[in-house]
Amino acid sequence: MTIRALHVASELYPLLKTGGLADVAGALPPALIERGADVRVLLPGFPAVAAGLVDLRTVARLDHPLLGSRAGLQYSVHAPHAAHATLELGTLPANGLSVYMIRDDALYDRPGNPYLDAQHVPYGDNAERFALLGWMAAQLAQHADPAWTPQIIHAHDWHAGLAPAYLRAAERRHGRRLAHTVFTVHNLAYQGVFPAQTFDHLALPADFFDMHGVEFYGQLSFLKAGLYYSDRLTTVSPTYAREIQTLAQGGGLDALLRGRTHDLTGILNGVDYGVWNPATDEALAARYTSSRLAGKRACKTALQERFGLAQKSDALLFGVVSRLTEQKGLDLLLGALPEIISRGGQLVVLGTGDPALEAGLLRVAHAHPDAVAVERGFDEPLAHAIVAGSDVIAVPSRFEPCGLTQLYALAYGSLPLVHRVGGLADTVVDASLENLADDLATGFVFERFEPEALGGAIRRAFALHARHSEWKAAQQRAMRQDFGWGASAQRYLDLYRSLVQDPAGA
Ligand code: ADP
Ligand code: GLC
Repeated sequence: MTIRALHVASELYPLLKTGGLADVAGALPPALIERGADVRVLLPGFPAVAAGLVDLRTVARLDHPLLGSRAGLQYSVHAPHAAHATLELGTLPANGLSVYMIRDDALYDRPGNPYLDAQHVPYGDNAERFALLGWMAAQLAQHADPAWTPQIIHAHDWHAGLAPAYLRAAERRHGRRLAHTVFTVHNLAYQGVFPAQTFDHLALPADFFDMHGVEFYGQLSFLKAGLYYSDRLTTVSPTYAREIQTLAQGGGLDALLRGRTHDLTGILNGVDYGVWNPATDEALAARYTSSRLAGKRACKTALQERFGLAQKSDALLFGVVSRLTEQKGLDLLLGALPEIISRGGQLVVLGTGDPALEAGLLRVAHAHPDAVAVERGFDEPLAHAIVAGSDVIAVPSRFEPCGLTQLYALAYGSLPLVHRVGGLADTVVDASLENLADDLATGFVFERFEPEALGGAIRRAFALHARHSEWKAAQQRAMRQDFGWGASAQRYLDLYRSLVQDPAGA
């Protein structure tokens, strides 16, 4: 039986990307299609989405009941617009994926970051912008496209959190189930919380604003809506699935998540080895494989040159490719830089975000231009070049739902140095003596989020690097790990099947 599933997300690689969500939205649907599912994606019509899809055609013009700027609300700063949106269907040229796009230029036709304005402040009408995404998903379950109706709506993160709520409201009106819902938490730290009065403009049934509903400590939470109204919940690693059920890491939603523990699974993200493969990667100075590592040395030299670092082949080169936020723990790494530099190591950082962290890293780079270099910005080819040219990729996150950078690092033979948390704990094996003896080590893992623990992992990296053959063995082991989408896509498919076959369901 072919299952029709609609993925609902706010970004998708290669159209638009601010983080790992885009990588997942771009890779999971094709992996599901490969396994026989009929999968389409729904995205807001941001400029990069409209520009990147081909063969766009109108499927439906729909009046929508969402108020916002038209009602002259304080939270909306944009010009009034008509209360209708167009649903279009197009194709992703890279792989032929079918993508629905919501055309509503007043809401989505804004350059740059999809969530933040030029001052890096969230747009004042984000509630309405992403409510429309959820509303449109529910419309697709009600035959907005007469040619294709999903059986499963798979919503990702808070942006799509209202999809299951709108669907539940429609089911109440219809008096029957219309589709099954899966909600995936990529990051519990972003909850899509808005003032309570926002609720009045979203055309949800009044009783949904309840502790058993979308209400969250007196406010409206899109994430909670997703968690409350979806049939099944997933998150992106088994360890994170456990962590978010604890008071310390549950972001205020741990009780709800514990209550739904039997509906919640952790399914590890995969790597799209079509995009992240050092044997074929066009962004690299040279290509390489686990048995022919010469190209990796050329990538390191090219990276040192690109960033003006000392051209020393034996300097242990640490790389960071990251959003610069509290989550990523780079403040801890900043504190460890004197140790790295005094041991003759080097660091390259590509990232953007927190100005104080950027400034702190830039200060060290100015003081030690031979050893430390920082580039601000978001640059996909440079990210590949750093992952390839580094010896170690550092991901010292305070918390990490899955993390993709460490998986890319493994594939490129750059040993990840990570905090034992979330998906990092599930994917990297520390180079302890016993793990080395058992041929298991693939990186460096520290337990506590403290300078001493990070320092210990950094010293283990230097110690192993001095033992050339053991380093090379660990690199080759890292490169042979299989974190492809196969097993994880199969688990999502099994989840869809269990829902569609449920006699109590639609
Ligand atoms: P998160 O989604 O929390 O940012 P992940 O590790 O899951 O973390 O995914 C991050 C993705 O974004 C990876 O594909 C990484 O290469 C990419 N990335 C992060 N920062 C940058 C940047 N400054 N330039 C290019 N790519 C970046
Ligand atoms: C989030 C998480 C990251 C995860 C990504 C994709 O951005 O921070 O850990 O890998 O989503 O699921």
